[in-house]
Amino acid sequence: MQEEDPITAATTITPYQDGPLLVRGDFALVTPDGQRIDARRGTVALCRCGKSAVKPFCDGTHKAIKFRAAPHREP
Ligand code: FES
Repeated sequence: MQEEDPITAATTITPYQDGPLLVRGDFALVTPDGQRIDARRGTVALCRCGKSAVKPFCDGTHKAIKFRAAPHREP
C-alpha cells in the first residue's frame, strides 16, 4: 500500500462531489487583468457548474440543477 504525502501547501483546493471547488489557505483571487476580487474570508467555494449568479463564487445553484461531477479522476 502506497503511503500518501502529507499536505504541506499553504493553499489547498478541494473539488467536492457534485459541487464547488473549496479553496483554503493563503490565496489571492484575481480577475484575468490582475484586479483583486474580495473573497471576504480565508475559505471560499468557487463555482464549478457554471450556473452561479455570483461567479466566481458558488451560490448553491449546483444543487438545484443537479450538477454531477466526480471529485477527481486520475490524469
Ligand atoms: S458549483 Fe455551486 S453554484 Fe456552481
